[in-house]
Amino acid sequence: MKHKPIQLTPHLTQLGTSSFPVYLSMGEEGMIIEGGTGPTYEIIVSQIKAMGIDPMKIKYIALTHTHGDHVGAVPRFRKLWPHIKVLAGATAGKFLKKDRFVKDFLPSDKMIGNLLLERGDIDQLPDELDEYRFEADAVLDESAVIDLGKGVKWTVYNTPGHSPCHISFYEELEGTIAIGDITGYYDPAKDIFWPNYFSSLEHYCDSIKKMLSVPANRAILSHNGQISYNIKEYFKKALRATEAYHLEILDKIKKGEDDDKISSEKADWICSIGALATYNVLTFLCKMLINNSRASQEKNLFDY
Ligand SMILES: [Fe+2]
Repeated sequence: MKHKPIQLTPHLTQLGTSSFPVYLSMGEEGMIIEGGTGPTYEIIVSQIKAMGIDPMKIKYIALTHTHGDHVGAVPRFRKLWPHIKVLAGATAGKFLKKDRFVKDFLPSDKMIGNLLLERGDIDQLPDELDEYRFEADAVLDESAVIDLGKGVKWTVYNTPGHSPCHISFYEELEGTIAIGDITGYYDPAKDIFWPNYFSSLEHYCDSIKKMLSVPANRAILSHNGQISYNIKEYFKKALRATEAYHLEILDKIKKGEDDDKISSEKADWICSIGALATYNVLTFLCKMLINNSRASQEKNLFDY
C-alpha cells in the first residue's frame, strides 16, 4: 500500500495522502474530518477497508470549508455509502447549494488530480461522475457538538479569514484541534508558511488568536499532517509569518511594484516551496492576498 493510514491517537487516524489528508475520528461512531479530493477518494476508501472498519459505523463527513480541495470526495462517498451525513458550517451550507458550485469545483479537482499524477501519488485520474452533489445534510453553528460516543466529542468554532465559511473542530478527550487551512499552507518539514488570508486578513488573524485560547496538544492540518508540539507556539509562529508576509507586500506596494509583479514573484516562491496549485492559480490567489493586505494596511492586527 503506497499511502498507509497513520494512527495519530487511539481515536484518530490520518488518511488520504500527506499533501491532501483527511482524518477519521472513531468513538462508538465515526466521522471523517475534511471532504477530501476526487483523486484521493479511492485511496481513502481502500485505507478504511484495510483498517477493517465497518463503513456503516462512519456516520459523518465534517467539512472545514468549501474550497475544491476540501470537498472533492463528498459526491463519491455519497454514492458509495449513502448513509453518511455531510456536516458543514452555516456559511458553507449556503455556498454548497449555489448552482455554480459544481462548475467552479471541477477544474480545481482536475488540477489536483494532475498534480498528484505528476508527483506519483496516484496512478490515474478518477472517473467523472454523472452527478456531483455537495449540499450539507446538516449545518453546524458555533459551539455545536458532534458526539461520536466513547467520550469523543467535537466542538465547532467559526474560524473565517482563509475563507468566509471556514470552521474548526476541537476534541477535548485527546486534545486535538482540526484547524483546516486557518494557518495557511504550512510545510512542517521546512517550517515554512504561506499565509492564506484569502477572504480577510483581519478575520484570519482573529481566528488564529481565537484558537490560541483552546487547550489543545495537537493540531491537524488540511495539508501536510499534524502539529504535535506546543500548539500555542505554533499559532504565534503562524501570526508572525502572516505579519511578515503582509508587511513585505505593503513594502513592495510602497516601492511602486505593481500587483502583477508582486504576485508573479510570490507565485514563483510558492512553487519553490512545493505548490499545491498551478502557477496561474497561485498568481490569482496572490492577488487576493495583495488586495486584502492593502485593505488592512491601517489596522493593527498583530497584538497577541
Ligand atoms: Fe482552503
